Amino acid sequence: MSRVTIATLRKLKQAGEKFAALTAYDASFARLLDESGVAVALVGDSLGMVLQGEDSTVPVTLDEMIYHTRLVRRGCEQAMVIADLPFMSYATPEQAMNSAARLMKEGGAQMVKLEGGSVMVETVRALAQRGVPVCAHLGLLPQSVHKTGGYRVQGRDSEAAEAMLADALAMEQAGADLLVLECIPRQLARRISEALSIPVIGIGAGSDTDGQVLVLYDMLGITSGKRPSFSHDFLSDTGSVAAALVAYVQQVRAGSFPADEHSFD
Ligand code: KIV
Repeated sequence: MSRVTIATLRKLKQAGEKFAALTAYDASFARLLDESGVAVALVGDSLGMVLQGEDSTVPVTLDEMIYHTRLVRRGCEQAMVIADLPFMSYATPEQAMNSAARLMKEGGAQMVKLEGGSVMVETVRALAQRGVPVCAHLGLLPQSVHKTGGYRVQGRDSEAAEAMLADALAMEQAGADLLVLECIPRQLARRISEALSIPVIGIGAGSDTDGQVLVLYDMLGITSGKRPSFSHDFLSDTGSVAAALVAYVQQVRAGSFPADEHSFD
């Protein structure tokens, strides 16, 4: 099989076929993800919390993201590798360009992900016009947790929901190739996924998005502390990492994960 590209994900969306994504931070897990049919390996800045033991993603540096992206890229032959731009590495379009260039040239990322709505339009446009594939991220924005005051479901009232839909359309219009929606009501995720022609990947956003992503350590049950309610421990169901990954991919493709108990209304 050849490497997953933006065109592959668009075709899956058009065909109504769901795809699975997972975070990855090193070559060994990336290889297992790749072999299990995960379409997208996301080098998330969640590594600050699950690998480094920080209490947020804010301390993660660009050099650390480049290092982990390079490891993941070595383990993936098929999965598309997307890397997070860490906190304050994209505060201006020019800084975003320099940071994205390093993630792609030194880390081997095929796409970069950034958090934020309308305020990021100019940056997304600048990146897209210069050939940088961009994944936008709306809903719960972990890099802004100190400003917003916690990890909570977003877009619950109608004003916030309309604003998120408008932001999603603005991101697509600016040239984003993918969108991640984190921790939002499933009805809103469904509306946004239907309104956009780019693929939408949900985490804690119900089963109606085009793809699903989870933090690898959450779905293997090895995250310290409480697992988010929208995740599931596939390792305890199956007994091996390889089988857990395959079960996740199969359930996402079949539309049986996430179930109602992993979704918000
Ligand atoms: O950093 C990360 O792992 C992410 C996912 C939660 C989507 O951005």
